[in-house]
Amino acid sequence: MDRISAGVPGGLLSVFNLMRRLASEKNVPVFLVGGQVRDAVLEISVRDLDFVLVGDAPALAADIADRLGGQFTVHSRFGTATVYIEGYHVDIVTARKESYSFPGSLPETSPSDLDDDLARRDFSINAMALPLSGNNPKIIDPFGGLKDLSDGLIRVLHSDSFADDPTRMMRAVRYEQRLGFNITVDTLLELGQTISRGHISAVSGDRWRQELYRVFWEYESVPILIRLMQLGILQGIHPALTDARAVNKLLGQSEIPSSHLISALVANMNSVDGDSLSQRLNMPSDLTRIVRDTITLGGLKSSISAPDVKISEICRILDALEPGAIEATVRFTSEPLLSERLIRYLREWRQLRGFLTGDDLLDMGIPSGPRIGKILRELRSALLDGLVSNMADERTLIGEIIQRGD
Ligand code: CTP
Repeated sequence: MDRISAGVPGGLLSVFNLMRRLASEKNVPVFLVGGQVRDAVLEISVRDLDFVLVGDAPALAADIADRLGGQFTVHSRFGTATVYIEGYHVDIVTARKESYSFPGSLPETSPSDLDDDLARRDFSINAMALPLSGNNPKIIDPFGGLKDLSDGLIRVLHSDSFADDPTRMMRAVRYEQRLGFNITVDTLLELGQTISRGHISAVSGDRWRQELYRVFWEYESVPILIRLMQLGILQGIHPALTDARAVNKLLGQSEIPSSHLISALVANMNSVDGDSLSQRLNMPSDLTRIVRDTITLGGLKSSISAPDVKISEICRILDALEPGAIEATVRFTSEPLLSERLIRYLREWRQLRGFLTGDDLLDMGIPSGPRIGKILRELRSALLDGLVSNMADERTLIGEIIQRGD
């Protein structure tokens, strides 16, 4: 218990200690559950706290928030509540039993005891509870989670687990790669059957997208994505998610933002598949643009790398694209010339502006209107292509443009 306390960040410690007091002095049947017990055993520092209460979780959350001066929200469908204190959040759930009316549906729940609450969970290593009363409580471990932790195994609790909730397949791979564990042979078999029975398609795009974000936020996001492809899980979400070449190029790179990971996933897709993937995952508009622009850029690679292409032409192509898609392409392209030109665009050419401004053009007697923008663009192109290099050159060029009359 002291080891867990030591790993609990400052802001959460007051909640943890209050829960312990309520459990010891008032016999409140509250337990630490799930990932925190797993991480405490593995001596990984605890990031947040999940409690299960055999009783009314929203009422306990209200009491805790009141005593510690925090806020709380209640999710009545599942009898769960979240307390917010000092920028941290703590989930308290009512111990419950779950049943799924069809594969991939949201579960029907009813309040129950701790045994049922542990039995509804995904993997043995996440189905342990730690009573909060006393100084040396014993971990409650009905499914052999401690042994699986020491053997490094990810194991579902029952054969319908993935069919009930196919997002657990992605969770299995996340834990496997994060912890350096192995998924047991039986669990892999269940996983394969869940895919071949098509249960993945029963899960909404929003839920899959949320699970994908959780993959993206992992330190080992790239190996996780590669493994998800190898196992056919991503392909189950969308049939075009099969090409791992760009993702493979990200191996060994660090601090890869989600938008770059999405970009690598779609790098070798065609635009019809890209659009339907965005729809399948109900992607927000910024990611939809990343998908679209990554694919567009993929189709324009040869124009950008052409030996005689003008810099102004490269900029005309790239100005229309999301910078995130360009940055991502730099990360995974295997074409040095393309990479060099994209980097120069991002660092240098993109920011370059002519010496004369719109006001200068007005002062020179050019009437306001779209023509000003057109001339400014022509000045920038001339500067990029080395045709002008100072304000005098630009004035001469403007004279020529005016004479040309366009
Ligand atoms: N859980 C589950 N099935 C899911 C999601 C969650 O059984 N599809 C259970 C697991 O027991 C899990 C707990 O709910 O441990 C809390 O879920 P979550 O916060 O997602 O997982 P953590 O174990 O805390 O994992 P992480 O370290 O990734 O936050």
